[in-house]
Amino acid sequence: MPQFAVRRIADDAHGGACYTPAVMTNRNLLGLLLCLGVGTAGLAAQQNDRPRLEKRGAATQLIVDGKPFLMLSGELHNSSSSNLDYMKPIWPKLAATGLNTVVTPLSWELIEPKEGTFDFTLVDGLLDQARQAHERIVFLWLASWKNGKSSYVPIWVKQDTRRFARVVEHGSEVEILSPLCAASEEADARAFAALMHHIKEVDGTEHTVLMMQVENEVGVLGDTRDHSEAANQAFAGTVPPQLTAYLAAHREELYPDLRELWNANGQKSAGTWTEVFGEGERADEVFMAWQYARFMQSVAAHGKAEYDIPMYVNTWLPSDNTPPGEYPSGGSQPRVVDVWRAEGTAIDFYSPDLYLPNFEEWCRRYHRGDNPLYMPETRGGAAGAANVFYALGEEAGIGFSPFGIESEAGDADPLGESYKAIAAMTPLLVDHQSAGDVHGFLLDRERSSVDFTMNGYTVHVSLDSIFGGQAESGYGLIMADGKDAFLGVGKGFRVTFSSSSGTGPQLGIGAVEEGRFEDGKWIVGRRLNGDEDDQGAYWRFDPRQVRTEKVTLYRYE
Ligand code: DGJ
Repeated sequence: MPQFAVRRIADDAHGGACYTPAVMTNRNLLGLLLCLGVGTAGLAAQQNDRPRLEKRGAATQLIVDGKPFLMLSGELHNSSSSNLDYMKPIWPKLAATGLNTVVTPLSWELIEPKEGTFDFTLVDGLLDQARQAHERIVFLWLASWKNGKSSYVPIWVKQDTRRFARVVEHGSEVEILSPLCAASEEADARAFAALMHHIKEVDGTEHTVLMMQVENEVGVLGDTRDHSEAANQAFAGTVPPQLTAYLAAHREELYPDLRELWNANGQKSAGTWTEVFGEGERADEVFMAWQYARFMQSVAAHGKAEYDIPMYVNTWLPSDNTPPGEYPSGGSQPRVVDVWRAEGTAIDFYSPDLYLPNFEEWCRRYHRGDNPLYMPETRGGAAGAANVFYALGEEAGIGFSPFGIESEAGDADPLGESYKAIAAMTPLLVDHQSAGDVHGFLLDRERSSVDFTMNGYTVHVSLDSIFGGQAESGYGLIMADGKDAFLGVGKGFRVTFSSSSGTGPQLGIGAVEEGRFEDGKWIVGRRLNGDEDDQGAYWRFDPRQVRTEKVTLYRYE
C-alpha cells in the first residue's frame, strides 16, 4: 500500500477554496440509496463491476458496466483540461460530434502543488462536466514525463535536482527525470496512488473514468540512454534474470526485432547489457526500456492497489531507421515492448500514437497476442473518419482517439459521421469482434481492392465505381448477418461475392436495403436495387455519405 496523505486544504496554491468534492462520495451515496430503499448488495455489485479488460472470444474488450464498450474518443490538447471554464463549452461540442469518451490530460503539478498536499478540485470538476455531457473519461497522467521531458512535474520536484535526479546526456544534466531515481519513482507513485484513491471514492460506482494512461510518450530524447552515474553503474551491471528468463520463456512470441537482437548475441541467459544485447544503440534502448518499465510498472501498480481499472502506456513512434534518441529511447515501441512486459503486469496494454503513414501495418504491430488496439492519439478529420473502421473492424480495437479533438470537432468534422454510424451498431460490432467475423478496410487509388473470407463466401471489396466515375477513397467494415446475408457500413466502396469453395451454384444480389439502428433495432430505409446497387451487379456504398446497408444473396444453378 502506498503511503500518502490526502489532505484537504483551506487555501490551495491557486488561492481557491477548500477542497470539496464536486460529486457525491460513496459514503453519501450509500446513505441516499439506503434512504431510497436500494440495497447494499446492488451497490457493492456496481463497485465490483469496475471497468476492466476481458478476453471474449477472439477479442480483448473493455467491459464497462458489464458490457463491451467501444471508446469513440478523442484526446484534448495538452492544456485544455487544466481549466474548467475553458472546458465548459468543449464537452457538449464533443458529444455532438459523436464522442462517448474524452482522453483528458491531468497533470501532477496541478493535483499536488505542495508536496503531500493534494487538491482534487479539478478532477471533481472534470468528472462533473463529463457526466453532464454524458461523456466518459480516460485520464492521461501527465507526471514524470511528457514527450520525453519532465515539464509537468510540480515545481518542488523541478527545483530539487539533488533529490530528483536528472538524465545526463553528453556530459550534461537535462530536464528529464532519470527513471533510475528511486525518490522520483516514489513521489510519482504516491501522487498517482492518491489520485486513484480519490477516483475510486468519487467514481467507484459511476464509472465515468474508464482507464488511465500512465505518463506520456516516455524515453530519453537527445541521447540513446541516460549517462548519469546511477545509469552507468546499472548499465555496467548484469541484465536482470527476470528479463532473460522472460525472453527464453516467450522466445516464439517475441517481437521479431528483439528476438533477432537476442539471437544475434547468442541468446544468453546471463551477462551484462552489452554481452546480452551487443554494443551500441540497440542495447542502450533495451536498457532504457527496462528502466522506464520498472518505474512505470511500479507507478501503475501503486495506482491499481487503490483502484484497479485498465492502465496503458502510449508511445512516440519512430519511422523506420530513425536512431533512438531522435525519438524517446526506451519508450514502449514494438521492438522493445516485450522488455516492458517482462518487467511486470500492472500496465495492461501498450498503444501507439499513430501519425505515421502505413496505418494498417502499425495497427497490426500493436494488436498482438492479447494486446488490444487503442490509439490515444492519431489523425482525426477525414483520415480519422476512415481509419476508425479499420481499427475497430479489422483489428478489433477497443477505441479510437484523434489528437487535438476540440479543434476539429463540430458539424463539419467527418469523424462525427463515422462515430455516429459505429455507435448505433456497437452491440452488434462487439459481438462480431469476439466472434472474429468482422472485417474493416481502407481503399484508395493505390490499393483499390481487398478480399476476405466470411460467412462461407469470398468477399471482394473495391473502390466504388459507376457510370465511368471512380471514388478517390473508400472505407468501412462488413460483418455476417445470418445465412447468405451481410451488414456493412462505410462509404466509397462496392462489393461482390463468390463461393469460398470456388464451386457450387451461381450467386446473385437478391436485395440491398439501407437502414439505421435505433436502440439496437434495425429500422429499414430505402430498397436500393437500381443504380444504387448498379442494377444488381454490386453491393454499393455511395462515396458521398457513410451508409449502413444490408445485403441478401441468392443462389441459382
Ligand atoms: C504527441 C504528444 O503525445 C502530444 O501530447 C502532443 O504533444 C502531440 N504529439 C502534438 O502533435
